[in-house]
Amino acid sequence: MCGIVGYVGKDNAKNVVLDGLKRLEYRGYDSAGIALIINGELKVYKKEGKIRNLEIELNKLNLFSSIGIGHTRWATHGKPASKNAHPHSDCFQKIAVVHNGIIENYVELRKELQSKGHKFLSETDTEVIAHLIEEELKETPNFFEAFKRAVSRLKGSYAIGVISSLQQDKIFVARKDSPLVIGLGEGENFIASDVPAFLPYTNKAIFLDDFELAVIEKDSVEIFDFNGEKKEKEVHTIPWSIAQAEKAGYKHFMLKEIFEQPRSIADTISGNMSWLKGDGKLEGVNPKSFDRIQIIACGTSYHAGLIGKFYIENLTRIQVEVDYASEYRYRNPIVNEKTLVIAITQSGETADTLAAMKLAKEKGAKTLAICNVIGSTITREADTTIYTYAGPEISVASTKAFTTQLTALFVLALYLGKERKTLSSEKLEAYFKLLMEVPSKMEEFLNTEKKEEIVKKIALEFYKASDALYLGRYVNYPIALEGALKLKEISYIHAEGYPAGEMKHGPIALIDETMPVIVVATKGKVYEKVLSNVEEVKARKGRVVSIVNKGDKAVKQLSEFSIEVPEVNEFLSPIINVVPLQLFAYYIADFLGYDVDQPRNLAKSVTVE
Ligand code: F6R
Repeated sequence: MCGIVGYVGKDNAKNVVLDGLKRLEYRGYDSAGIALIINGELKVYKKEGKIRNLEIELNKLNLFSSIGIGHTRWATHGKPASKNAHPHSDCFQKIAVVHNGIIENYVELRKELQSKGHKFLSETDTEVIAHLIEEELKETPNFFEAFKRAVSRLKGSYAIGVISSLQQDKIFVARKDSPLVIGLGEGENFIASDVPAFLPYTNKAIFLDDFELAVIEKDSVEIFDFNGEKKEKEVHTIPWSIAQAEKAGYKHFMLKEIFEQPRSIADTISGNMSWLKGDGKLEGVNPKSFDRIQIIACGTSYHAGLIGKFYIENLTRIQVEVDYASEYRYRNPIVNEKTLVIAITQSGETADTLAAMKLAKEKGAKTLAICNVIGSTITREADTTIYTYAGPEISVASTKAFTTQLTALFVLALYLGKERKTLSSEKLEAYFKLLMEVPSKMEEFLNTEKKEEIVKKIALEFYKASDALYLGRYVNYPIALEGALKLKEISYIHAEGYPAGEMKHGPIALIDETMPVIVVATKGKVYEKVLSNVEEVKARKGRVVSIVNKGDKAVKQLSEFSIEVPEVNEFLSPIINVVPLQLFAYYIADFLGYDVDQPRNLAKSVTVE
């Protein structure tokens, strides 16, 4: 989704803002723009396409400014074009606005403003904000007051950044339902829609909440509610290093993030050890206070939720439902104070997940977030949060976020089992030991057996396929879904994930001698069943690629290609089994020459419904 960056301070805002925008490239965008105040005048530059296009243009000009805002746009209202790129201005080019989100009442506002003589240059909803401020300035000479009044007329979701030649050393921001974070430097301050934008400059951050406004100068940050009352806010220290947000020699962030998984999983275990193993408790949720769990999430996080259901139901015997957040919020779910709602989200900013969790809260549920971003919206709204310690995930396709979510869910299931006494301390110890082995088993797969070469070879065989079918059963059925999602989102090859036992009820009709069928067939209680399913595929001449454990013979001999993974406890096998599927999707997309980290039409953090 769109990215916002702003800077006020001693350096050249042009460079800092462009640098920040590049760090937000992963969010997905189709045009970029920047506004600066130079010699007292507001200057706006925008370009369709990559930030590089804008940078080339700006480098031709010798610009210096100590204040600026920039934006990468992911089109919602109006096609991708430089006229629709942000920043947008008022009639007199004195006010520049960048905005993420959607202004739902922009049609009425636009009509009203046009009737008062305002001229609009774009098709966007955002442009009304600049004109509204201009209009309010006719009523009050106080810029902040005009900004506040303008914002109070907006309906919808927004993170807004404004600079003006009428207030040359201040950035004005406002937030509702779209993330905005303020970075605190020395003699300089930053705004951004996501922390990596300013991570090279500072790791101190204030996260704005809904219905908050702020005025940012180089030496001060003041935060207000919508009534204009000043507020004190917590300053967070972000634990991510800048190296984590860079490629470190890998061709793409996705590949780097795949290889980071053993570390991220180990960090997620140790980061949550105190409440699982020690005397500590998971603050905010009494493990005995609910009799039902609902998991809500989107995309890859939803797939983690499906596996979480197996963990929790098996280890605690608590009933678990799993829903797409976008469905849950409209299905009138049965929720009450005896329900624990678990929201799984890497970013902590996904609009559907946030809305679904708010709904559950209103109905009295206790809420628990599993999230990767400290200070993100969901972590502030949930009763408690279990963090995944994946570090910044930059590539749009989720990899290390997924495996750390599975780790966190397993830890949670162990904790609930311990607290609710469905798991003996011996069993808990045994499972914990098995979990601790996962990072080194994954490392073994990734590094010591040239697995990358094997996966590359298979990808080379199939990268021209038009369809692919992924099969798995029991805890590995969601891995089939996740493998298919990875392939389609970055390589644009149509792929479907299916429970292997369900194949005979329809999808088997798709199988012929051209169809790649990727089967997760590692050891466990459904191994024999999966073997029969592989036979069925083979009988229809499907091209079987299997994920098997070392030493497997039966499935291997039916497969055209096999990828061997180390054997781990069956519950934990999805964490390992997904890795070859991530690599397979990655190499196919790379062979096809696609921009793996920024697939078309997708955004990292989906902050609109
Ligand atoms: C797929 C992917 C998406 C996200 C989904 C939810 O690779 O990344 O499907 O999983 O948009 O995002 P979060 O977890 O941030 O709520």
